[in-house]
Amino acid sequence: MKKLIIVIAASAVFAACKSKKAAGSTNMPVVTDKQLSAVQARFPDANRAELEKGHSVYTGACTKCHGAKDVTTYTEPKLLEIVEVMSKKANITPEEKQALVRFAVGVRSGK
Ligand code: HEC
Repeated sequence: MKKLIIVIAASAVFAACKSKKAAGSTNMPVVTDKQLSAVQARFPDANRAELEKGHSVYTGACTKCHGAKDVTTYTEPKLLEIVEVMSKKANITPEEKQALVRFAVGVRSGK
């Protein structure tokens, strides 16, 4: 829970200064370097703060109705389809949805 609050705070700081690269959160294992590079290979503008935001959405808004679902058990197109439906249920912003999708891509790449 404490971790989650830190992630949310980090995201808020990031949102306040979008042009700057977020720093100082590398000691959190939420997003590994390997995952970050995998995501950046697909989405060059992605950064660690965005993936951490995706993680906080995934473990926050996405767990209101059920536990955190394993995003690695679905094919990527199927997962995107599910996220499309679930993001409406979770009432998240387009930015949060994008962060969530990118986070999921990163998690999958780590498998
Ligand atoms: C308003 C309630 C609600 C919220 C919020 C919600 N879900 Fe769901 N979700 C459901 C229900 C109901 C099901 C179907 C029953 C189940 O699998 O638990 C489901 C199923 C799923 C499944 C399995 C789908 C399948 O076809 O196997 C995944 C994956 C999932 N949700 C991911 C998410 C993600 C990611 C978020 C955040 C964006 C989210 N959910 C937010 C209600 C919700």
